[in-house]
Amino acid sequence: MAIEIIGTGRAVPSRRVSNDDLAARIDTSDEWIRSHTGIGNRHIADDHTATSDLALEAAKNALAMAAGFSGGSGSEEWNRVVAEAAQSIDVIILGTATPDYVGTPSTACIVQHKLGAKQALAMDISAGCTGFVYGLEVATGLLSLGRGRKRALVIGAELLSRVIDWEDRGTCVLFGDGAGAVVLEVNDAPSEGPERRGLVRSMLWADGSGSESLLFRRGGSRNPFKPGETIEKGICVEMNGQEVYNFAVKAVTDTANALMQADGIGVDDITWIIPHQANARIVQAAARRLKMPAEKIYLNIEEYANTSAASIPIALDELNRNGKIKKGDLILTIGFGGGLTYGGNIIVW
Ligand code: COA
Repeated sequence: MAIEIIGTGRAVPSRRVSNDDLAARIDTSDEWIRSHTGIGNRHIADDHTATSDLALEAAKNALAMAAGFSGGSGSEEWNRVVAEAAQSIDVIILGTATPDYVGTPSTACIVQHKLGAKQALAMDISAGCTGFVYGLEVATGLLSLGRGRKRALVIGAELLSRVIDWEDRGTCVLFGDGAGAVVLEVNDAPSEGPERRGLVRSMLWADGSGSESLLFRRGGSRNPFKPGETIEKGICVEMNGQEVYNFAVKAVTDTANALMQADGIGVDDITWIIPHQANARIVQAAARRLKMPAEKIYLNIEEYANTSAASIPIALDELNRNGKIKKGDLILTIGFGGGLTYGGNIIVW
């Protein structure tokens, strides 16, 4: 029994904000942002969009692909195919740090309802930027149990522009909005041996001792907003950049080494590494330690900045739709982020 990805999709807001656009408002420059992070642009949602809206669009695109629909999106036929494919989904897992609502309902439930996926269980995963990597393993675990569950939708979706302090140049230049999704299906392909397919291995970790290096301090049960309190800023992400940087380089290196060792593979066996797109310098530093050729590492941070849990499924969909993945290719995903959390998956296409 294998659990394979049979559809990918993404949704990115059309509004593109360049480094120069930011430099016109705050004390920064295109040169600083590019040289310190590799970021050139980010896509920012309009005021009416919520995380579930981006998640829904990405999920629909993944469902259309899973159903074999090759026409353009949005047509009556496309809508019919997507609605029918949604009926076949048993599990919806959505990784996000920026849910529509604090606590409940989960953003996954909102997506489940809007898709009309009536037989699906639905829940969010709060694992920061590692949310999608965690989500793949949780969905695989649920599908592996049997119990009649055959298909899962795993989504990473974020609206980080809503939780950024746009006056803080140390964080606001780093993040963007977006969503990515995959459809997983249980099938008869082997999951071991030379012909193995699908999600063959995941390794996941957490280190809560670093929980304060990346957090939304206000609004939860620890520091709730109080009645009558005047707040100057909404909920904002706070980050200790240097701490997160050091953690991230080690997390990428350790995860890649652990996955390769556990699976008995080497750098030459890997077709693509899809790292979480937080900072090109983090990835390049880890690649040097791993002696990993740069051309095996997929980076699209220049266009989207850090979209947290959405970055890996957006990258996966780009590679897939651009015909850059073929059957049998081995892909390593590597996530790291708030929690602190980290880990990765091995996917044989
Ligand atoms: N534009 C211009 N200057 C900036 C700036 C910006 N957007 N942001 C910070 N600076 C300045 C600082 O004020 C500081 O100036 P000073 O020396 O006069 O005090 C200088 O640049 C260096 O700041 P520093 O924080 O040491 O830069 P850095 O080289 O560590 O890079 C990050 C900062 C945020 C890019 C880097 O620490 C990083 O990428 N960390 C990880 C972030 C991340 O990946 N988060 C998400 C994880 S999922």
